[in-house]
Amino acid sequence: MYDGLSFCCHSERNVVKSKNLISMEKIYKYIEEHASVPSQALDWVVKQTHVRTNHARMLSGATQGQLLRMLVQMTGARRILELGTFTGYSAICLASALPEGGHLDTLELNDELEDLILEGFDRAGLSDKMELHIGDCKETLKSFRERMNLPDVGESSSLNDAEMSQMTESAASDYLLYDIVYMDANKREYCEYYDLVFDMVRPGGLILADNVLWDGKVCQDPLPQDKQTLGIAAFNDKVSADPRVESVIMPLRDGLNIIRKR
Ligand SMILES: C[S@@+](CC[C@H](N)C(=O)[O-])C[C@H]1O[C@@H](n2cnc3c(N)ncnc32)[C@H](O)[C@@H]1O
Repeated sequence: MYDGLSFCCHSERNVVKSKNLISMEKIYKYIEEHASVPSQALDWVVKQTHVRTNHARMLSGATQGQLLRMLVQMTGARRILELGTFTGYSAICLASALPEGGHLDTLELNDELEDLILEGFDRAGLSDKMELHIGDCKETLKSFRERMNLPDVGESSSLNDAEMSQMTESAASDYLLYDIVYMDANKREYCEYYDLVFDMVRPGGLILADNVLWDGKVCQDPLPQDKQTLGIAAFNDKVSADPRVESVIMPLRDGLNIIRKR
């Protein structure tokens, strides 16, 4: 329920009452009806996700997908990294706004999704700009860091600012830094992902983290002690205390943290 003062997350069970009694469901339906219409390829991905998986709720959805696409357009991003492909919906949204020569790396643990993901990329006509990496994204990120000549994360925290910026400059000179990272994999691991990707992002680049309100659980007092809630809460605290970035949580769907590296 949203009455201009209060916000509540997207799940039905969290809807609260106010004078006007407009449900979040109605508001999201209205928002979705007034956003740009998704492509046929995205419609195909949604249908196949329903038919071939039991987790359609994990899709970023049309409204967030359109926002992601516009963030790529507005920032002029050329290199994008996504953690958590699922069936490829958000990856297609992000890649659809890449300019000629742009590239998106997307990382997914579940190899059973590979055929569906690749067919979606093909139907979107974006296969030449999109690369799927199957495996645990933490391991994949470590191999990317090696390729970019970046130090191990433990090691990088012992470097001073000048040493760190020399490292990122040398990666940047090879055009390997990312303009946007979209984090949407295992919620327990967001802090680890943040540390692994941070110096892979160019100064001024964005890290976008999905589901950071976690059905509103991060605001509950006492805080639920399940690992996902604790993981997301620790991540939001870490970001808001990090002087290297500025950030804002948008109350879109399950919450999107927009983090800009200074
Ligand atoms: C919320 S879904 C991603 C949704 C997708 N971004 C979209 O909007 O369509 C999360 C995905 O992350 C994947 N995942 C979870 N842990 C992972 C890990 N350690 N490495 C890579 N992928 C992981 C899951 O298999 C799942 O497909």
